[in-house]
Formats: sequence, C-alpha cells, structure tokens
Amino acid sequence: MYKIAVTASKGGTGKTTTAINFAHAAALMDIKVLLVDCDSQGSASLAFDLNSVQGLSDLLLAGQVDIYNIRPNLYLVGSGRSDIYMVERYLAQQNEYEYPLARALGRFTGIEMIILDCSPSINIINSNILSYVDSVLIPVSMDYFALEGAALTLKIIKDANANRDNDINLLGILPTFFDVRTRISKKILEDLKEKYSDKVFDTAIRVNTQIKESQMNRKTIFEYAPYSHGAYDYYRFVKEALDRLGR
Ligand SMILES: Nc1ncnc2c1ncn2[C@@H]1O[C@H](COP(=O)(O)OP(=O)(O)OP(=O)(O)O)[C@@H](O)[C@H]1O
Ligand SMILES: [Mg+2]
Repeated sequence: MYKIAVTASKGGTGKTTTAINFAHAAALMDIKVLLVDCDSQGSASLAFDLNSVQGLSDLLLAGQVDIYNIRPNLYLVGSGRSDIYMVERYLAQQNEYEYPLARALGRFTGIEMIILDCSPSINIINSNILSYVDSVLIPVSMDYFALEGAALTLKIIKDANANRDNDINLLGILPTFFDVRTRISKKILEDLKEKYSDKVFDTAIRVNTQIKESQMNRKTIFEYAPYSHGAYDYYRFVKEALDRLGR
C-alpha cells in the first residue's frame, strides 16, 4: 500500500487541490484510493460536498468512522465533527502520542493508495501523519515565502526521520500556481530546481481559474473541465508521480 502525505508548512500552496485531484486521477487509472482529510478546515471533504460528516477526529476520538465511497475506486475519510483542539488535547494525553493515527488507519485494508491532505500547522496530528506515511509530496507555490517554507517542511521531515526505522521517501516537490506570464514564477522555479534538482517534478501546475471553479462546483478538475490546463497539468503530474512510485 502506498501511503502518501500531501504536506507543506506554508498555507495555500495547493495541498488540498493536489490531494483531491491526485486521488481522483489515480482512481480513474484503476487504483483503489482512500483520501483522508487531515485538516480541520475540511476543504478536501467540502470539495466532494461532504461537510460536517464523520471523519478523522471521530476515528481518533471514538475509534470508528464512516468511509464514503465518493467515486468509483475513490473513498473518503472526512475531517470529522470535533474541534481540532479536542483531538490535539486527546493525542497529547496518549503515551506514544505520535502513533494513534497509524494504529487507526492500519485497520483499513484492501486499499492500494492512501493520500492524506495535511493542514499547514505544526501540530500533533501532523507528527502522527509523519509517523504513518512512507512518502511525502510537497506542493510549493511560485512565491518567495513558499520557497522558504519548503526548507522548513524538509527540516520537519528530517526530524521525523530521526524517530523512524526507515526514512520517509520524498516523492517530490510539485511547483504550483505557476504563472507563465510572470518573471517571478520562472525565477522561483529555477531556484527550486537549483536547490532540489531532480526532486522537483517536471510538471508545474499552472494557475488555472477552472481549478477554483471546479471546487465551487464540488467536482474534480477531471470532471469539471477535462480539457483545461489544470486537468492536463494534474494528469501529467500524476503520471510522473506513479512512475516514481514504480506503479
Ligand atoms: N493551479 C491553481 N490555479 C488557480 N487556483 C488554484 C490552483 N490551485 C489551487 N487553487 C486555489 O487556491 C486556493 C488554495 O488552494 P488549496 O486549498 O489547494 O491550498 P492548501 O495548500 O490546501 O491551503 P491550506 O494551507 O489552507 O490547506 C483554493 O481556493 C484553490 O481553489
Ligand atoms: Mg488545504
């Protein structure tokens, strides 16, 4: 089973957009995927028109959860109904507080790929996620703060590796919000490639309004605008990612 966290310590870099479109593209390619919304904002759940439903917080606090079959081959664990504060407080009280999520998700079988959409915060849920996954995918938007944020994200992953038997695989760094018209986008992409070389995916996700619209319409980009730049870029990226995974 592939266990992949979509994570970045900077907000608004396209984590949720990447998680939902990666999950749906993989499902369309005949991979059985479970998407887990690990952000109390619940954006990934909302993108599939499921808000205020059971989810990760219920799984962690009550030990059971409804899993929604949202598309053929695609399943969702929502973010849940409890306040993030409750979950954080509960986790903080556990012995080995970094492992409840791994134990809870470890029960799910028959799934080929789990994709976890992370919040940008530094919290106990995110350290649980880094104890559980085997790969991370880091979306970096084409702005200076996000570039700096990538370094912090990689530092957090390195720290997590110190407590693990095997290192987390950096699946890759995905350039997002690439604006072909601006020099800053090109410059940041160059810097990113200079710093992280072949860890950066060849595909950059371009700015595309239809991506925003697709979410408003509770659809993935492949359903809402299959011939858009957004669908093309996400499809190309998913092919690359699956290649890197050897799938
Ligand atoms: N390529 C794109 N082109 C245009 N808009 C985009 C693109 N990718 C994402 N967006 C929009 O940008 C906003 C932020 O994206 P998203 O929610 O995926 O980021 P995030 O990293 O998950 O944010 P957070 O840190 O708050 O969880 C959303 O409104 C989304 O629709
Ligand atoms: Mg998000």
